[in-house]
Amino acid sequence: MSLCIVVTRRIPDAGLSVLRSSGAVIRVVQPDPAAGVERAELLDAVRDADVLVSLLTERIDARVLSAASKLRGIANFAVGLGNIDVDEATRLGIPVTNTPGVLTEATADVTWALMLAIARRAPQSTCHPDRGEYQIWGRELFPGEDPGRGPDSERRTLGVIGYGRVGQAVARRAHAFDMRVVAYDPYMHDTIDASRDVSWCDFDDLLRECDFVSLHALLTDETRQMIGERELRMMKDSAFLINVAHAEMVDEHVLVRALNERWIAGAALDVFERTPAMAEGLALCENAVFAPHIGSASHGTRNRMAVMAATNAVALLNLQHAPNVVNPIVYESPVHVERLARLTPWLRATAAEVV
Ligand code: DGY
Repeated sequence: MSLCIVVTRRIPDAGLSVLRSSGAVIRVVQPDPAAGVERAELLDAVRDADVLVSLLTERIDARVLSAASKLRGIANFAVGLGNIDVDEATRLGIPVTNTPGVLTEATADVTWALMLAIARRAPQSTCHPDRGEYQIWGRELFPGEDPGRGPDSERRTLGVIGYGRVGQAVARRAHAFDMRVVAYDPYMHDTIDASRDVSWCDFDDLLRECDFVSLHALLTDETRQMIGERELRMMKDSAFLINVAHAEMVDEHVLVRALNERWIAGAALDVFERTPAMAEGLALCENAVFAPHIGSASHGTRNRMAVMAATNAVALLNLQHAPNVVNPIVYESPVHVERLARLTPWLRATAAEVV
């Protein structure tokens, strides 16, 4: 019987070609890239899956994992793994992979797009002349704030929280704007110290000093809800918060108060606690701009993510040690070995022969 790779939603063709080259049957649960996958459909589809290629929109939790009794591995089409219960996958002996590295520059670009948009009020001032929206130039027409060095010659300060790949790429771009850049990341102290253009800053000082605070940390127990009332009240009332990393890092309900009561000047968000729903009142905050999780949304980046996820998937299918596996410990677990032996009786037979 043919092996089957189940793809939850259609990924770019570059990735589908790699999947097809494996010779497995490829089943795309939701071929319409703009539509979602029903939970029942997902639970049904994973029963046939030897390998699952998942998107961030599908929750791969204990229920899905236990329904996927044939599964050799999961290839997530994302670097983030917030949609997958990786601990449960590990417990069941299932390797999980992601797509690191390829979306760094695209995500840094979107961070900057959002920074500029919130500071210079781009969404409010975008107009549709064909709908009669063009407004005559005037002194008071949509004035915003200078993102970089302004006419007062004062350098603005960008604070980067989380100095990994994306944080560093965001910091690099800030130099073109002649900004001062400070960073906080307890795991990257040496890298920050070694950098000529970025200075280390304690978390609280960064919040107090910066004109822009941009979040790029991994989501962990330490970073979950790291920006709450205490932190937002510490920020300058002229400062902007940018989050393209993880919604869970910010207390969205408190952020609504901070925006309405002007504890801070504004926020630009690419991620939300309960996508697509937002915390009550957030959508009405006029000093915020929103994007629908487009950090990696450039053609080139999405193609590279697709190829990477598909390459991971084919390795999982072929029972090879997959590149980009995030729970490599799984390969040493007896549960994994037993799982493979159950799924591939021929392997057990070969092993027995060798013995
Ligand atoms: C990721 O890969 O985690 C991104 O958030 C998707 O754009």
